Amino acid sequence: MYKFEKNTIPLYIQLYEQIKEDIKNNLLAGSKLPSIRKMVDEYNLSKNTIQSAYNQLYAEGYIESKAKSGYFVSEDIYQKFEKDLNESFDKKSKNKNYKINFYPASLSKSSFPKKTWLKLYSKVLKSDIHYGIYQNKQGDEGLRQEIQKYLFSSRAVNCTKDQIIITSGFSDSMFIVGTILKTISNSLAIEYPGYAVARKVLELLAYDIKDISINSNGIDINQLEKTACKSIYLTPSHQFPTGVTIPIANRIKLIHWAKKNDAYIIEDDYDSELSYYNRPIPAMQGLENSDRVVYVGTFSKALSPALRVAYIVLPIKLLPIYYSTFDFSFSGVPIDLQKTLELFLKDGYWDRHLRKIRNLNRKKHEIMKNSLLHYLKDEIKILREGSGLNLLIKPLINIDLNKLEKLAQKRDVKIYFKEYFEIKKVLALGFGAFEEDEIENAIKTFREIWQEAKSFK
Ligand SMILES: Cc1ncc(COP(=O)(O)O)c(C=O)c1O
Repeated sequence: MYKFEKNTIPLYIQLYEQIKEDIKNNLLAGSKLPSIRKMVDEYNLSKNTIQSAYNQLYAEGYIESKAKSGYFVSEDIYQKFEKDLNESFDKKSKNKNYKINFYPASLSKSSFPKKTWLKLYSKVLKSDIHYGIYQNKQGDEGLRQEIQKYLFSSRAVNCTKDQIIITSGFSDSMFIVGTILKTISNSLAIEYPGYAVARKVLELLAYDIKDISINSNGIDINQLEKTACKSIYLTPSHQFPTGVTIPIANRIKLIHWAKKNDAYIIEDDYDSELSYYNRPIPAMQGLENSDRVVYVGTFSKALSPALRVAYIVLPIKLLPIYYSTFDFSFSGVPIDLQKTLELFLKDGYWDRHLRKIRNLNRKKHEIMKNSLLHYLKDEIKILREGSGLNLLIKPLINIDLNKLEKLAQKRDVKIYFKEYFEIKKVLALGFGAFEEDEIENAIKTFREIWQEAKSFK
């Protein structure tokens, strides 16, 4: 029921505003609006007033007119409102604190070595650290030296500290690398499905992005060879999100492709520290004396995603472009944090911490896997396991995953999805954020939501 007031706003505008609100909040796409004659009778308005309101709605795309049938709510506009609603739902849910949050890339609060960090941090503050000057643009030399030693011994990465740049996370690294490589070529290949952050940064840099599909051996090299790309972004040790490892023969093929085409491989080695069934395989960067690989790593997975420390290892050939392009820019990581991390690595705490975090997350991984198999038995299939901070799960029964997400939300539980080969939506359940004794209960609650979602067909 529309209401009209006697004021300076013309009646047709009052009617137009009210129908518009109705379309946004109540009316379904494709539903028919009352005929002009019916509106005249119902509201005692003139035919002209109603026609003008409808004309305005039509001009703005809220309604469509069908010959001899009348006016209908436009399909397009309805879908846009749906999208807006979903987006605001997503935004709200991203910042919310959930009772149970299966975020795929978090560590638990207790796994951060706070005591040691405090000890080393105060040592740094008591040292003669100079806060009055701009520090090294590329990142502190001492920290770069320690990262070089660690990468050499654990990942067989071959470089000097001068090739290392300290950044404040993957997107920062990708922005620097993408900017450097753009001086060589405008087109860049990327894994599909792949890491959305990498794609976003490359889109912002206005790259012509070529998707290369993933198969059971990692990226399809034949597809890559058909492109004119001069660089490719890869997660070769543990493909994100499928978990596939590129076998050695294909790694060598890729390096040969890069050598032959004067191209570069961006190797994102984001979580090789967290491998539970086998030792992590060496990085591509160290293979075949490769000066064609740009290596990017992070401290987010094994130490803390909150510290925001990551790094790039640039091939020597690309250093001059880095110096000339980024001569304005300083590492975004505060000097005291860099120095604390340097001591953490230098004094042997990092090696100990890695052993601890690997064991801890291996246990959490087992608890989550066993709980899932116990509570959901043959209703699910675990698609990816054995490393990282989450398990990928495919339902084996008919279940509406959107409904599951909404029901979870109602219970203050957050679940996440990823793409897996040709499957557009599989569940990515993170275990890293939980304490060991919380996981089974989290899965029990998940099972209750699952049962509820199953009953909606
Ligand atoms: C594929 C991939 N690369 C890199 C990162 C590291 O991101 P950051 O260093 O910004 O924490 C992540 C984190 O989840 C990731 O999934």
